[in-house]
Amino acid sequence: MPELKLLTKDIDKKDLHKLSVYEETGGYGSLKKLFKKKPDEVIEMVKASGLRGRGGAGFPAGLKWSFLAKDVFPRYLCCNADESEPGTCKDRLLLEKTPHLLIEGMIACAYACKIETGYIYFRGEFQHASDLMDEALKEARAKNYLGKNIMGSGFDFEIHTHLGAGAYICGEESALLNSLEGRRGEPRLKPPFPAVEGLYSKPTVINNVETLCVVPYIINEGPEKYASYGTEKSKGSKLVSVSGHVKKPGNYEIEMGTTVRELIYELAGGIRNDNKLKAYIPGGSSTPMLPADLVDTPYDYESLAAAGSMLGSGALIVIDDQVNIVESTLRLASFYKHESCGKCTPCREGTRWMWQLLDGIHNGEGTNQQVDKLVDICDNISFKSFCPLGDAAVGPVASSIKYFREDYEALLKRNAEGTA
Ligand SMILES: Cc1cc2nc3c(=O)[nH]c(=O)nc-3n(C[C@H](O)[C@H](O)[C@H](O)COP(=O)(O)O)c2cc1C
Ligand code: SF4
Repeated sequence: MPELKLLTKDIDKKDLHKLSVYEETGGYGSLKKLFKKKPDEVIEMVKASGLRGRGGAGFPAGLKWSFLAKDVFPRYLCCNADESEPGTCKDRLLLEKTPHLLIEGMIACAYACKIETGYIYFRGEFQHASDLMDEALKEARAKNYLGKNIMGSGFDFEIHTHLGAGAYICGEESALLNSLEGRRGEPRLKPPFPAVEGLYSKPTVINNVETLCVVPYIINEGPEKYASYGTEKSKGSKLVSVSGHVKKPGNYEIEMGTTVRELIYELAGGIRNDNKLKAYIPGGSSTPMLPADLVDTPYDYESLAAAGSMLGSGALIVIDDQVNIVESTLRLASFYKHESCGKCTPCREGTRWMWQLLDGIHNGEGTNQQVDKLVDICDNISFKSFCPLGDAAVGPVASSIKYFREDYEALLKRNAEGTA
């Protein structure tokens, strides 16, 4: 089996969320090693490991940490636990099953970046995870893993939790910062990037839950060990949420470079009712879908980009041949119409318009010109919106027309024949 359990080795252990159980598995063991190193050495280790951000963009984590504005304090660490990308549920697994791993990773990041205050921003629906985290934080404080002079190291660090109000856009890092400051959850103009002017206009590191959870492994085992897994540019393991028409949906931690075929047919048990694969969305709803003949694509950043999509947040959505793709696309378009924050015109108007046209086609009221109009709207949203949500909304629509125009034509034909 192509699983590689670096983060999830003990995930099924009973009560792992409790400090005593976490410590039995070696939890917080990285801190002794951490405090023997200089902060800059830790950043170099993370750089050498090749760890890339697991929130979507795949930006190198160590490099991001090294971009913090020099000599400006206080600085902040924000952990992005918004996990709102449809199809993604891997951060929730880590948050609920092993909250102390995230705390341990945040301590390492904060030490490396000379940060004394951290926040975990939970999506609004993650009340349970947030409650568990509050308990875990209490336990960690009582053991002096958090607070003043952690384990006699002279380093002070505290973490606070914050529950959002359930908006997809608040997963975008600058909207997250606005929301955390109590403002409307809308993206900010970049530059300045958060590393220069982030939370409360101070230098801020924002990392995804999974990214931060990898750091204790790098400290414990060394960057070379982590970098020995995966491909040349996509190192280590990746937690992938597999959903849709598979027999065994769930989160699977794989070595980067494992093929999509292995993920679907070996780990997730194959397609429901042994139907045929029609398409898959590799990295969450905002990444373009790919047709079944690209099922041997390795699951890593470069290979999925070369195939015309993205690894994104690591959510593989599987679609079988019983589905008309227009229906799946309509659902996704409905999501983006609802979640567009409304700040800029191409996305605010375009997402609604795309949904209206798709809804019409799906209901048997479409024409060929409307499909062409959809392509035109996609062109007018892409790279013309204020933040990447606009591009994300285009991904499923444009790719569905590119690969599955015959599904649109089948619906148009029914319309023309009056059988809709
Ligand atoms: C619309 C939108 C939604 C996003 N949602 C999330 C999210 O839920 N979780 C996340 O970690 N990153 C999300 N991101 C990416 C963040 O902006 C940011 O790149 C990420 O948190 C950085 O962490 P990383 O470097 O560890 O990946 C989203 C980006 C966009 C444009
Ligand atoms: S692209 Fe969409 S989500 Fe982003 S700022 Fe514009 S309206 Fe808001």
